[in-house]
Amino acid sequence: MLKLLQIGCGNISNTWLSSLAKRNDIEFCGLVDIDRDAAREKVSAHGLQCPIFTDAAKAIKATSPHIAIDNIIPSERLALAEICMSNGLHVLSEKPLADNIDNAKKIIKLSDKYNRDFFVMQNRRYNTNMFSYRNAIQSGRIGEIGYLGVEFFRDPHFGGFRDIMDSPLLIDMAIHTFDQARFLLGKNPVSVICKEYNPGWSWYKGNSSAICIFTFEDGTIFNYTGSWCAPGMNTSWDSGWRTIGSKGSCLWNGNDFPTAGLSILNDVKSCHPDAESIIIDRINCDIGGHAGCINEMIESIKAGSRAQTDCRDNIISMAMVFAAIKSSAKNREIQIKNILEE
Ligand SMILES: NC(=O)c1ccc[n+]([C@@H]2O[C@H](COP(=O)([O-])OP(=O)(O)OC[C@H]3O[C@@H](n4cnc5c(N)ncnc54)[C@H](O)[C@@H]3O)[C@@H](O)[C@H]2O)c1
Repeated sequence: MLKLLQIGCGNISNTWLSSLAKRNDIEFCGLVDIDRDAAREKVSAHGLQCPIFTDAAKAIKATSPHIAIDNIIPSERLALAEICMSNGLHVLSEKPLADNIDNAKKIIKLSDKYNRDFFVMQNRRYNTNMFSYRNAIQSGRIGEIGYLGVEFFRDPHFGGFRDIMDSPLLIDMAIHTFDQARFLLGKNPVSVICKEYNPGWSWYKGNSSAICIFTFEDGTIFNYTGSWCAPGMNTSWDSGWRTIGSKGSCLWNGNDFPTAGLSILNDVKSCHPDAESIIIDRINCDIGGHAGCINEMIESIKAGSRAQTDCRDNIISMAMVFAAIKSSAKNREIQIKNILEE
């Protein structure tokens, strides 16, 4: 039985607590939040029988957990990582891995130093539609891939840390979409050109909107346009996607099963070749969303292996975020490897 210490009892902790409660290989040994009432409220809402704490280090000493669940805010993640890993705990953390790229690198160093796992939640990878879309892209069903485009437009009024942080869209949301792009293509990015902006009506202090053009290692262009300040006609939280290959195109609106069409082969010499709709293979994701990622992370710890969202891999998705921010600030193209090696 693995003993878990839940640290951070805000909004997203409900999703973790309810996913974890369904497992029979874990038990909660405590809940921690600097706001005692937040921890107390979650103990009661989830029917738990464990003590609450306001200090993670004291909670670790009192309860000797195996794993810390980090659901706190990004700016506090590095300090908490040091407390947890130096005390022998593995960490399952919410995204983003860190609030800046230097702190992401420091978390990897701590994971190496203490030989503890630090895995990151990327729940949007775990979805039957994503698995099927990815398979259509990577199996060659639409030919050689040249373009991946995504639109993300929503208008959440969160309040809290997102309203006052720099680059809330890129750091707190686009990290999901950039990570999904790497997952879909099975390739890594090389460079980015980005323009961040904040429309006049924005309720965010930092830039709530951005346009980014990434070039991937095989030359594929990944075109991202997104906004957290776009009233009306919202896209899915999973965004709307279009992939173009040498034989056809594949679309996913983020909600329904992806659709695809191929050029009719004997018609490609005509000026306007006809296309036919095709049905792509369905690839089931047995456990979706947070529960799926949590399952992989816990099973990896038990097996002594690394989950796909290990901090050493996840930093590449983070580097996309911080390369984009730097590109916008400097008004020029930025190489991803420079962000990773700086
Ligand atoms: N994967 C997803 O889909 C998803 C969705 C929402 C939020 N998130 C991520 O989850 C994290 C938390 O977001 P949220 O919406 O729950 O925020 P929140 O503000 O609702 O909750 C954060 C909680 O952490 C507590 N806290 C802050 N610093 C602490 C510390 N040092 N020790 C203990 N407790 C501390 C706060 O008091 C608060 O209760 C963020 O990184 C966010 O990006 C992920």
